[in-house]
Amino acid sequence: MKQTYVTLNDGRNIPQFGLGVYMIQGDENTKTACLKAIRMGYRHIDTAHAYQNERGVGDAVKESGIPREEIWITSKLWPSEYGEGKTTAAIDKMLDRLGTDYIDLLLLHQQFGDYLGAWKDMERAVREGKVKSIGLSNFESKRLEELLTAAEIKPSVLQVECHPYYQQNELKKRLVPYGMAIESWYPIGHGDETLLNEKIFTRLAQKYRKSNVQIILRWHIQEGNIVFPKSTNPQHIRDNIDIFDFELTVEEMEEIQALDKGVRFFNMSLAEQEAHLGKFVPAD
Ligand SMILES: NC(=O)c1ccc[n+]([C@@H]2O[C@H](COP(=O)([O-])OP(=O)(O)OC[C@H]3O[C@@H](n4cnc5c(N)ncnc54)[C@H](OP(=O)(O)O)[C@@H]3O)[C@@H](O)[C@H]2O)c1
Repeated sequence: MKQTYVTLNDGRNIPQFGLGVYMIQGDENTKTACLKAIRMGYRHIDTAHAYQNERGVGDAVKESGIPREEIWITSKLWPSEYGEGKTTAAIDKMLDRLGTDYIDLLLLHQQFGDYLGAWKDMERAVREGKVKSIGLSNFESKRLEELLTAAEIKPSVLQVECHPYYQQNELKKRLVPYGMAIESWYPIGHGDETLLNEKIFTRLAQKYRKSNVQIILRWHIQEGNIVFPKSTNPQHIRDNIDIFDFELTVEEMEEIQALDKGVRFFNMSLAEQEAHLGKFVPAD
């Protein structure tokens, strides 16, 4: 198995494939899933303060015995932690929870609150070596360009919902001038059966002796997306990374590109997000 990397606009190489730990309940379950994944060759974990399982990620990295610098850890700040001064304190607490002295990639999780103040502290954290790369998640409104204009250090990535039914081609065009990479959340549609059972995936799965999910994940890789499907199922964790020994043809990639329907699985407007998600304050 030979994993692939994406070179970010700050020159760092991120493993293109990893494990997402959203909705894995608690540190113990998270540690178990991460350890399984690391032992199967995963070298990238995507967590967030809001997932309330960063300690489990940090414990798994330590227990794995793999040198810290060989595992890429991404985490995300919640809007309740945004603001100059406040964000610096939040980053220090995050380092404590993860049990590490640096974070590979730190993202602003949501596009509301004092994100400009937070970004200044994130830039400071890069200068101080506490964080290596910085980026955004869910900035799809004009707030993306607002932040890009204000930023001294340009974001390296934008993490958004992205899968064959919602391929983000327009957003990708907006990122080109900044050299930002796309990270796909809900890469397999959060497990949506209609998406997973599309005929094209079943046909290609038979051709390549892979599963439908592996075909979708391989499509992400060839699209250049950074991808980290969530799983706690050992067989799924094993299968999901087993996508580096075959290649979809140009025609097959085009057939999958034709599935783009502009259909999202997460449908909250920005105002609804501000109203609902804005009330949540993750525990330390
Ligand atoms: N920035 C954001 O706002 C945001 C939002 C959502 C997600 N994310 C990130 O993106 C990651 C992935 O998104 P997600 O977890 O929501 O959705 P996902 O990875 O698209 O789908 C996860 C679902 O698919 C199932 N699954 C995984 N592998 C499978 C396989 N080989 N065959 C069949 N089913 C399989 C999982 O169940 P099992 O556990 O049973 O395998 C789970 O129910 C998250 O963990 C998180 O790191 C970020």
